[in-house]
Amino acid sequence: MRTQVVIIGAGPAGLLLSHLLRLAGVASVVLESRSREHCEQRIRAGVLEQGTVDTLTQAGLGSRMQREGLVHHGIELLFERTRHRIDLTALTGGRAITVYGQHEVVRDMIAAAIDHQQPLYFDVSAVSLHDLTTDKPWVQFTHEGIAQRIDCEFIAGCDGFHGISRDSIPAAALQTFERIYPYAWLGILAHAAPTCDELVYAHHERGFALFSMRSPELTRLYLQCRPDEDLAQWPDQRVWAELHARFDNADGWLPAIGEIAQKGVTPMRSFVCEPMQYGRLFLAGDAAHIVPPTGAKGMNLAVADVRVLSKALAAHYRDGRDDLLAAYSSTCLARVWRAEHFSYFMTNMLHPSFDDTPFVNRLKLSELRYVARSDAAARMLAENYVGLPFDD
Ligand code: APR
Ligand code: PHB
Repeated sequence: MRTQVVIIGAGPAGLLLSHLLRLAGVASVVLESRSREHCEQRIRAGVLEQGTVDTLTQAGLGSRMQREGLVHHGIELLFERTRHRIDLTALTGGRAITVYGQHEVVRDMIAAAIDHQQPLYFDVSAVSLHDLTTDKPWVQFTHEGIAQRIDCEFIAGCDGFHGISRDSIPAAALQTFERIYPYAWLGILAHAAPTCDELVYAHHERGFALFSMRSPELTRLYLQCRPDEDLAQWPDQRVWAELHARFDNADGWLPAIGEIAQKGVTPMRSFVCEPMQYGRLFLAGDAAHIVPPTGAKGMNLAVADVRVLSKALAAHYRDGRDDLLAAYSSTCLARVWRAEHFSYFMTNMLHPSFDDTPFVNRLKLSELRYVARSDAAARMLAENYVGLPFDD
C-alpha cells in the first residue's frame, strides 16, 4: 500500500486530520488499534470551544452537533455556599461554548469518513513506524491476521497518551514536562434531567465537584477523589450524598438524582513533550500533551494541532513550501502551554488539597473570590475558557 500521510489513531485528532487533509486534496490512511464500537462509545469530556465548533462546521462535520449540541453562554463557580456566574459571552465579545460529547464528535467523523470512502482500518495491531528521518517513512501493521506495510511521505502520531508514536522517537530527541496531581475525579453519567442550564464548578472543603450534562435527559457529574480510589467503596447512595454535600448552597439548588449509567475514575495529569515532531513524524493531540480536565481543553487542543498540521501539509503539497511544517511544533506549543497553564490554574484553584497547608487552601479561596468579583480576573478566565483565537 502507498499513501501520502499515514495517521495513527482514530480519536478526535486523527479523524479530524483525515477530513481536513481530504478537503485539501491530500490522501491519508487511518490505522486504529481498537474497534469502531469502542471508539464510538468511549465517554470523555464534552466542552467544545467556539473555534472547535467552527472548525468542525467548516469541515462539513457539524450538522448533528448544530442540532443536538447545547450552547452555553456562562459557567458557575460555587464556593462558600454561594453561586457566582461567569458570563462567558459578555466577557469575550460574544463567544460561547458548546456541550456535545466527544464520542458524538467521533461518531460523526467516523460516519463521514465512511461516506467519503476514506481508508480507515479498525482493530489493527503490531503498529510500528520506520525510517522517520528519511523522506520515505513507512508503517508496518497487522490487520485481520495479515502483516502489511504502507509506504508514505509523512506520519501523523494521533494515538493518544499511551500510543506508540511518541515512543518511536529516540528519548534523546525529546524533552518532556510532567505533573501528576495528588487527586483524581470520580465521574458518573446519570439518567436525570440537568437542573441547571450551565456547568457548575464547586469548591468545597470536602473536595471539588462538577455538574455537567450530555443532553436534556443526561447529567454528568464528577467528584474529587484519591488517585487510587476504589470504586467498590462508592455505592450510588454514597456518590449522591457526597455530591449533595459538596454542592450545598444558599439557593437550595441541587442536581437531580437518577439511575447511574456509568462510573469511573479519571486521573489528573499535565504533560507536554517538546518538540512535537521528529523527522517526518508529527505528533498531535494527547500523543503530545495532556491537560487535567478542569479547564475542558483536551479535545480542543487536539483540534487546534490538526488544524495547524493540515495547513502545513497542504502548503507542502500545493505550494512546495515546508516552512509551515518546520514551524509546526513551535506554532502548536504556544497554544499548548497557554492551555497547560489555564488547566493548571483552574485545577489548583478549584481543588482543596489535603496535602497542602491550610495556608494554601486559604489562597485558593481568595483567588475564587477575586475571580467572582473582579471583571479583569473573570475576563482572564472567560477568554481562556471559550478558547483563544487560532494563530494559524
Ligand atoms: N495504533 C493505532 N491506534 C492506537 C494505538 C496504536 N498503537 N495506540 C492508541 N491508539 C488509538 C486509541 O485507541 C485511540 O482511539 O489512538 C486513539 C487516540 O485517541 P485519543 O486518546 O482520543 O486522543 P486524541 O485524538 O489526541 O484526542 C484528544 O482525547 O483523551 C481525550 O481528553 C482528551 O479530549 C482529548 C482527546
Ligand atoms: C464534562 O462534561 O465531561 C466536562 C465538562 C467540563 C470539564 C470537564 C469535563 O471541565
